[in-house]
Amino acid sequence: MATITSSSRRYGPVAVFFHWASAALFLALATLGQIYATIPRETRSFWLNVHALFGLIFLALVIARLTWRLGHAPPTKPGEVNGLVRIASSVVHWAMYILMIFTPVIGVIAFIWHGRVLELGIVQIDFGIQSTRAIYHSAQNLHGWLVYVLLCLAIGHTLIAIHYYLFGRRDVLSSMAPWIRAA
Ligand code: HEM
Ligand code: HEM
Repeated sequence: MATITSSSRRYGPVAVFFHWASAALFLALATLGQIYATIPRETRSFWLNVHALFGLIFLALVIARLTWRLGHAPPTKPGEVNGLVRIASSVVHWAMYILMIFTPVIGVIAFIWHGRVLELGIVQIDFGIQSTRAIYHSAQNLHGWLVYVLLCLAIGHTLIAIHYYLFGRRDVLSSMAPWIRAA
């Protein structure tokens, strides 16, 4: 019977949706953040506002994902996966969740303490905080570094899933990408 929770072999559709939606948003935000400095000055504040809005959507999505995850166990790894690999995979997954929360939160601090106003079309949110260089500069730097660390972990776990796929363990990738055949 079809179920929305994870089975012993695969992540369920809710976990799969959260994974791919947050992965796509993360990569889009990281790309926009990276090319931000090359955008013409006149349109920069517009694109930073887009970055902040989608960053906040990302944060809400990750909070919903984490809430779901805490109530729904992931699939168990096959018996032949050794204990160290299981622990490493779990540590990397939780480190990614923590970074997916902290990265946008630090982005919010960089945004607000630069004295910026969030444009929501007809409404504006003015946080009424004076631009404080010591705070926004450090937060901006930290925000950039956290993105790099998260990117490295995301690339690392993707390469491991591809490695397993190429060496006969297709079920690891297909557990999160159900459109890929496990055998
Ligand atoms: C996971 C979600 C996010 C990712 C992947 C991301 C990514 C990035 C990247 C790669 C940069 C460039 C960093 C550098 O070159 O040092 C950046 C800059 C920035 N981001 Fe984000 N960001 C995210 C969420 C947010 C949020 C939610 C906000 C605020 C509401 C935000 C505000 C900023 C600000 C203010 C900057 C500095 C722009 C400047 O140079 O003035 N970011 N972001
Ligand atoms: C195309 C790129 C990606 C591929 C192929 C991929 C693949 C996978 C696979 C196969 C798993 C299950 C692994 C296992 O059970 O050991 C997984 C889990 C996970 N991935 Fe990805 N991933 C990608 C991108 C990303 C990105 C960009 C992020 C974060 C920004 C991310 C965060 C996570 C997290 C947190 C988990 C743990 C899920 C859980 O158990 O709750 N992934 N990924």
